[in-house]
Parts: sequence; C-alpha cells; structure tokens
Amino acid sequence: MPDLSVQLNRLRLPNPILVASGTFGYAREMVAYADFRQLGGIIPKTVTPQPRPGNPTPRTVETAGGMLNSIGLDNDGLETFIAKHVQPLLSLGAPIIANVAGKNTDEFVAMARRLDEFPQLAALELNISCPNVSGGVDYGTDPGMAAEVVSAVRGATSLPVIAKLTPNVTSVPLIAKAVADAGADAVSLVNTIQGMAIDWRRRKPVLGNGLGGLSGPAIKPVALRIVWQVAQAVSVPIIGVGGIQSIDDVMEFLVAGATAVQVGTANFYNPTLATNLVGELAVLLTELGCDRVADVVGTLEFPVRR
Ligand code: FUM
Repeated sequence: MPDLSVQLNRLRLPNPILVASGTFGYAREMVAYADFRQLGGIIPKTVTPQPRPGNPTPRTVETAGGMLNSIGLDNDGLETFIAKHVQPLLSLGAPIIANVAGKNTDEFVAMARRLDEFPQLAALELNISCPNVSGGVDYGTDPGMAAEVVSAVRGATSLPVIAKLTPNVTSVPLIAKAVADAGADAVSLVNTIQGMAIDWRRRKPVLGNGLGGLSGPAIKPVALRIVWQVAQAVSVPIIGVGGIQSIDDVMEFLVAGATAVQVGTANFYNPTLATNLVGELAVLLTELGCDRVADVVGTLEFPVRR
C-alpha cells in the first residue's frame, strides 16, 4: 500500500483528495452518501464575518462542460458557522479546512483570530478570489494586497494558511510568489473563471447577477496550465482544482505539479466521487510502483520550446 499522505509546509493531510469549498455544503448534507473519514480534507462553503443573503436568482446555470455560479457568498456568518457547523464538521473524522472571506484585511484577521480558538481545524483557506461579490477578487488580483492579507492572517493564527487564487489575472505566478513570500503554506489553484450566459430572446443574462464563475471540466486545461506555470516559478505547495472528475484528472494535476487536489463541481452530480478517488489513487500508484504521492508530483516532461 503506497503512503498517500502529503505535506504542504505545516499542513499534513492523510491523502491528497479534498472536496472544494462551495461544492459540499457543510458536509452533513452528504453524510448519507460517503465515508468522509477517507477524504484528505473537507473545505466547507466560504464564511464571512456577517451573514450574507447572497446574489439574486438564478444563481447557477449549466454550460457546455461545466456550470456558471453566482452564489454571492451566501452564508450565515462566522458566529453561526462556529455554533452550528464547526463541531459537527470536526466529528466527521476528515481534516477540516475553514474557508473565509473578508471585505478588508481587518475582517480577515478578526476571522482568523476567532477560528484560531479551534486548533482541531486543519487550516484556513483564504478566499481572495470570489468573482461574484464586489471586492471579492480584489485581493487576489493585486500582489501587494494579496501579500498583505496573507501576512496579517499568518500573524493572527497558528493554523496553516492557504490562499485560494483567481485565474482572472494576467500572471498567477506573480500573485502566487507574493503570497508564498508572505507566508502562505500553500495555494489553491484555481477559483472559477469569470463568464456569462445569455438568453438572447429576452436580451438578458441568464444569471440574476449578470456574470458568474465558470467551473467544471471546461476549465480543466486552464487550471492545469496555471498549476504547471506556478510550479515552475514558485516553490509553494499547490492544491489543484478545476474540473476534476476522474483518477486520470487527479494524476494530470499531480504530474503538473500539484501536491493535492480538490474535487469541486463533480460533487454536485456524484457526491461519492472524491471518496472513490482515494482508493483509485492507491491502486494506481501501486500499479506504477510508486511508494508515495510525491513520486509523481511535478514529473511532467515538458517539450523544449524553440
Ligand atoms: O458566489 C460564490 O459564492 C462563489 C464563491 C467563489 O467562487 O469563491
């Protein structure tokens, strides 16, 4: 049996298969379907300091090879998350990574301080990349702001810190380097790609908020490209996310340079997929003669460019 555990700086996970924020509720909705103790990690929906009602409906629409969402960070706020969800999540037996978003650095810091009271959490993932709320993506598009928030959060908590980055920039490596230098233990690559769907007969966008974030298999080639580019440029551990729906997809992200992966959109139509992938990964690594996940990470042989 290969060793599936992975190390992302201060964060150790039993295996590299996680479920992505916003695609798995608070996990209790999924309890009937799978044994979560097998997962490498569960990342519940983004929490904000105060409750948010979210964006106008419709908030989701299926697209070719994926979906658009514009949820608008609908959640009940940090104190309700702590009162209702943290202990049940921790009791599931998988590492729990709380995903947080603030409007400014002070809000991120206040949330990090409060969640630091729960050392059983595995890590904090900073959502500095939501395209669906005003200001949500600002931190993730400016290297200085991204570094500022990561550095401030590092000072406010002893939990490992992951920065979830947006693909909606010219250079993700630039942002990844900034957050790595500021102390991020890992980066999650990538959040959704901004897009839109149009009902041309009504001359209106389909989504209530006009624009949304594209996810699913349609964005996998973009996510792979970004994972590979960041892995070449920065030595921060990468959690790959974007369109994963099979063990081959997992392997593509690992070979490109990701140390772990998140299953996202696929959870909506197959809530047991991520758990199944853990077993499939063990079988595949055994077939390949690999003792550990690290044996395949970053092994892509890229053609020499002329
Ligand atoms: O609209 C949303 O809640 C999406 C969040 C995200 O993509 O980070």
